[in-house]
Amino acid sequence: MSAHSHSGHAHHDTDIDWEVMASHLETNGELQLPVLRATAARLRDLLGPDREVRRVLDVGSGPGVMTCVFAETFPTAQAVAVDGAPGLLDRALARAGRLGLGGRVAVERAELPAGFDGGLGTADLVWSSRAVHHLGDQQAALDGLAGLLRPGGVLAVAEGGLPMRFLPRDIGLGRPGLQARLDVIQEQWFEVMRTELPGSTRVVEDWPAMFTRAGLTGVGGFTSLLDLPAPLSPAARAYLHAHLSRLRDSMAEALDAEDRATLDVLVDPEAPEGVLQRPDAFLLSATTVFTGVHQPR
Ligand SMILES: C[S@@+](CC[C@H](N)C(=O)[O-])C[C@H]1O[C@@H](n2cnc3c(N)ncnc32)[C@H](O)[C@@H]1O
Repeated sequence: MSAHSHSGHAHHDTDIDWEVMASHLETNGELQLPVLRATAARLRDLLGPDREVRRVLDVGSGPGVMTCVFAETFPTAQAVAVDGAPGLLDRALARAGRLGLGGRVAVERAELPAGFDGGLGTADLVWSSRAVHHLGDQQAALDGLAGLLRPGGVLAVAEGGLPMRFLPRDIGLGRPGLQARLDVIQEQWFEVMRTELPGSTRVVEDWPAMFTRAGLTGVGGFTSLLDLPAPLSPAARAYLHAHLSRLRDSMAEALDAEDRATLDVLVDPEAPEGVLQRPDAFLLSATTVFTGVHQPR
């Protein structure tokens, strides 16, 4: 199932099949677990020691890794995974069951932005990670998310940060600087993806200003670092391999022949220079979380 569909792809296929991404999203979440736990603890501090957190919404939850972290962090709360892709919500429920959190994790299928109009209820904490940029009107999305907050509740949105780094500049294959060139291609893909979204609206992506326009106060943010140095664990290698394989498949035509050949070697499971075997592969990325409070006057 596609969470959204659009036509007329100019350069790349920007219509994402989220269900196909399920295990990649879950592996990514698992690699990020220490960061996600620290983030949840920071949000708990922001809500304050006196607030009893009864309900948390994870909007655009994917397979529910953070939903389950919230259920762990807020023992009195129900944590609800909200997503348009039913296969991902099934995964969130299965994960909660495995972790013994089944009683306090629920799921709601909602196609956004229509799903903002009733049905999701309200929450003390509303979290949305890497989902707002998949909605055509990002300001309207923040307005919708803010509208789910109970008085004194906190909205936290993970958007932006730094692109992931995973190899040295010179890897002894092809021209040095492959990562910078991949960044450019992904940035172009991202722009096409955004312009093809239903209701696509350009906005200055000044997230604190957008939070303020959504009626929130005490607006701030913080950035967390994922730092997995070389040599990578097998799970981290598998994640990186899947990431590069996806880039190789979806962006091949935007690469020149030399970079395509380099990527072919990097994703070759048998090649000693491939990311499944080479000793110098690492994962380094930064995620920014913007926060604001719903303080009714
Ligand atoms: C990049 S994933 C992020 C998943 C998870 N929050 C994370 O940070 O790993 C984006 C998620 O948003 C969901 N999504 C995208 N567009 C949506 C829409 N219009 N309505 C509902 N969910 C949507 C997708 O199904 C997917 O699970």
